[in-house]
Amino acid sequence: MPKIKLENLTKRYGNFEVLHGVDLEMEDAEFTVLVGPSGCGKSTTLRMIAGLETVSDGEIFIDGRPVSQLEPKDRDLAMVFQDYALYPHMNVAKNMSFALRLEKRPKAEINKKIKEVAEILGLTDFLHRKPAELSGGQRQRVAMGRALTRDSSTFLFDEPLSNLDAKLRTQMRAELALMRQRVHKNMIYVTHDQIEAMTLADRIVVMHAGRIQQQGTPEELFKKPVNKFVAGFLGSPPMNFLESTVQQEGDDVFLAGQGFRLKIDGELTKRLSPLSGSKVDVGIRPSDLSFDPDASADNAIDINVVISEYVGAQSVLIGDCGGQKVMVELKSDTPIALGEKLRFRVECSDLHLFDTSSELAIG
Ligand SMILES: Nc1ncnc2c1ncn2[C@@H]1O[C@H](COP(=O)(O)OP(=O)(O)OP(=O)(O)O)[C@@H](O)[C@H]1O
Ligand SMILES: [Mg+2]
Repeated sequence: MPKIKLENLTKRYGNFEVLHGVDLEMEDAEFTVLVGPSGCGKSTTLRMIAGLETVSDGEIFIDGRPVSQLEPKDRDLAMVFQDYALYPHMNVAKNMSFALRLEKRPKAEINKKIKEVAEILGLTDFLHRKPAELSGGQRQRVAMGRALTRDSSTFLFDEPLSNLDAKLRTQMRAELALMRQRVHKNMIYVTHDQIEAMTLADRIVVMHAGRIQQQGTPEELFKKPVNKFVAGFLGSPPMNFLESTVQQEGDDVFLAGQGFRLKIDGELTKRLSPLSGSKVDVGIRPSDLSFDPDASADNAIDINVVISEYVGAQSVLIGDCGGQKVMVELKSDTPIALGEKLRFRVECSDLHLFDTSSELAIG
């Protein structure tokens, strides 16, 4: 039985529907990340699970039991919000044990719990400090600790890292991954940051405009995106898309666009052959283009270099292929000059193809 199941979960504000019947199952001890652009319905979904928003249609099941009519406190969940307001006058230990003390749990039990959670989160040396005496990342950990002391079966996180600066975010992301290895609880984590999703999730759920686009492991979604939206959303720098038309010449199949003509080989030939004359968007990840002046024009694209951004061991080159923008990730020692036209080889097996009108993956 799934730990949490969403069935046709729908949310309307007045006549305005923001969540259009979401179906999702989350297994116990799974780290599920809901990811998508701003306004796609991530927080709404999480808040409905938590019981902070009413359900317009559909049902939420926890351990097989419908909970949409239950009060938040009866759902056995703990939530960490984006603004993790700590009590400024209480020290770390008091902040973390606030809920337990409200419930008048025995002192020994509370102390044991604080000790346990502080160890997991690396807060043992900070228990007597006030929030003002902590760094942003440490405060974030206290907010998490406050949820972890609750012993709930499921933890809900709504963009817990969003008000940290970039460096601290990276550090906290690593700490979360570590915490994750020690706490085997069901976790649902909302973010609009695809890197956070890729690094933390057992299962990623990509949402867009109130609908689930695709769910699966980070690797599944990266390698086999079901549509152009998912393909363009996951991956940094993002996937390149080039407009093309399928052309058949005898037994050969080509994808031809402005400034390139790729010859298709293998299985893909059979799949594309019946689509001769159709428009197809060719998706190529920036890391799948390799600088190769000797490549044949049949399996390469020529790019006019516009900008090269040096980022350490790698450079990100931004160029132009027949009027369409293309990004390439390449080793920093590759000799390039701005304004040059360079040839990049691309393997047919690395292409992601999408029907131009439906935007669905082909094959
Ligand atoms: N109380 C409300 N009344 C009307 N519309 C609302 C209300 N709350 C949210 N919405 C709308 O519902 C949609 C989904 O909002 P939600 O907060 O779930 O987005 P999100 O995916 O969490 O975005 P973000 O990444 O910006 O936090 C948005 O279009 C938003 O404007
Ligand atoms: Mg939100």
